[in-house]
Amino acid sequence: MSAAGRKKRKSVPEIRARKGGEPIVSLTAYSAPMASLLDPHTDLFIVGDSVGMVLYGFESTLGVTLEMMIGHGAAVVRGSECACVVVDLPFGSYQETPAQAFRNASKVMKLTGCDAVKLEGGEEMAETVAFLVSRGIPVMGHVGLQPQSVNTLGGYRARGRERDEATVIIAGAGAIAEAGAFSIVVEGVVETLAREVTSAVAVPTIGIGASAECDGQVLVTEDMLGLFTDFKPKFVRRYAELGPKVGKAAAAYARDVRARRFPGPENCFREGLRKDG
Ligand code: KIV
Repeated sequence: MSAAGRKKRKSVPEIRARKGGEPIVSLTAYSAPMASLLDPHTDLFIVGDSVGMVLYGFESTLGVTLEMMIGHGAAVVRGSECACVVVDLPFGSYQETPAQAFRNASKVMKLTGCDAVKLEGGEEMAETVAFLVSRGIPVMGHVGLQPQSVNTLGGYRARGRERDEATVIIAGAGAIAEAGAFSIVVEGVVETLAREVTSAVAVPTIGIGASAECDGQVLVTEDMLGLFTDFKPKFVRRYAELGPKVGKAAAAYARDVRARRFPGPENCFREGLRKDG
């Protein structure tokens, strides 16, 4: 398709070049209409496997499949034209071997049209990151609180309070960056560790629950809009409270249907002679 007349999507090298510059604005997106609404304000969409908890009602991200990520990733690419789009590789789709990661990451890129994939992990994933990047797949890393490791980490508590843990996370971020990741999500870490990770790596860090010390910020859109109300992590700021508004709208609709006020005349197809016979 011709690129004439279309806005240019931000590229992976453009995001990579934002290290230490104007903070990168990132949000999660899972659907075409939401991506379209957010696109003018966002540098980078992460089609996160948080979709499992936010849209599907799973208790963790572990049940998310490659097919789900492909469906949501493709929808976000279709719904946006400016933001760079990164799609999460779900649990079990990349940890086994670099070859498994390549097979699944290339499928995600082919079938969604996204710009890059994201995977969780530190030093143990460096070989895989290098394998993917050297074969044409841009990779975003994800360190600190890694939701796909909830069972080995024993919960969702903030990371890096103990020096030993902080050292492992800094080394992991360094290894992933050295391996060729173009940016790294830093999730759920104390402020000092976010600062250390950000100054230790040459690529932008994108924080979520990781203070303002990162090169950019990401929030789960449904958290930011008050649409996901099961719980509100401390690091979330709600920029709207849409949840109660949805409830109010549904109640008004229900009242109108029960009272036969909906549909009104303006919502009905009327009989009548068509002029063309
Ligand atoms: O799954 C997700 O939403 C994430 C965020 C940290 C962006 O990985």
